[in-house]
Amino acid sequence: MELRHFKSMNQVHETSEYIKALEAFDGIPQLQELKSLAIERTNMAPGKSVLDVGCGFGLETLRLAKKVAPTGRVTGVDVSPEFVDEAIRRARTAELEVDYKVGDARRLPFADDTFDCVRAERILIYLKDFSNALAEMERVLKPGGRMALIEPDFSTNTINTDDRLLMRRIVDHETSQAVEQSYLPGPLAAALEDLGFADIEIATRVLIFPQDLGASYFNSIGSHANEAGVVSAGELEEWRGAIDLLRKNNHVFASIGYFLFTASRN
Ligand SMILES: C[S@@+](CC[C@H](N)C(=O)[O-])C[C@H]1O[C@@H](n2cnc3c(N)ncnc32)[C@H](O)[C@@H]1O
Repeated sequence: MELRHFKSMNQVHETSEYIKALEAFDGIPQLQELKSLAIERTNMAPGKSVLDVGCGFGLETLRLAKKVAPTGRVTGVDVSPEFVDEAIRRARTAELEVDYKVGDARRLPFADDTFDCVRAERILIYLKDFSNALAEMERVLKPGGRMALIEPDFSTNTINTDDRLLMRRIVDHETSQAVEQSYLPGPLAAALEDLGFADIEIATRVLIFPQDLGASYFNSIGSHANEAGVVSAGELEEWRGAIDLLRKNNHVFASIGYFLFTASRN
């Protein structure tokens, strides 16, 4: 299961498998709890205008469109035209009105003070410098508007294989390659404060991977580490064997820490 290249669909070899992986991840109950909390803490309700930055193919965007209907409006923006096409197709199928746009989080194609709520999920980790994206989100928020950010601490990825050092080496290698921000929740509160945001609140959940997703994801990152020469062929074989045995017995226990930041624009 390839869950690595989120920057552009062009970099993904197998689009449908990638979408399936994102959908399986989206179904994790602890992530759904954080999303519900984000909705609650941003006072999302009928009539509100909402921007979903880095909306992907609109998994959450469509849910938000239902929340603000019939008088509100949701807009989704993503840098990937392929994702935006898929999001438009899904909105049509669901008979929901959503405004989708191809655009970069670092130069949002919207006027100042446009939205009641701006939210972003798993996008800042992929940006080398996330501060200009945050400043853009602030700019397009109305004064008093609410912001919600959901991001993982990628370095907390873990699976219950016995060889803990091997596990750490593989996860550390993946963290160094797959994301630009490997410990993002750390600097995020300070960055929001620097921009003048008020009422900053943080909530966390540890997400537990479903058995199949956990086994395939951790198998794939073992292969990445081997391809990069970080683990030997023998170590990769040990890693795969351990994961396959856990999966066979339904004993995969894999998890990652996720964080929700909410704040108000002054
Ligand atoms: C892991 S996906 C998350 C998609 C969606 N937020 C979700 O949670 O299902 C990351 C998304 O960020 C988008 N992205 C990456 N860099 C971006 C940028 N600079 N501006 C806008 N979108 C970007 C990618 O195209 C991708 O859709």
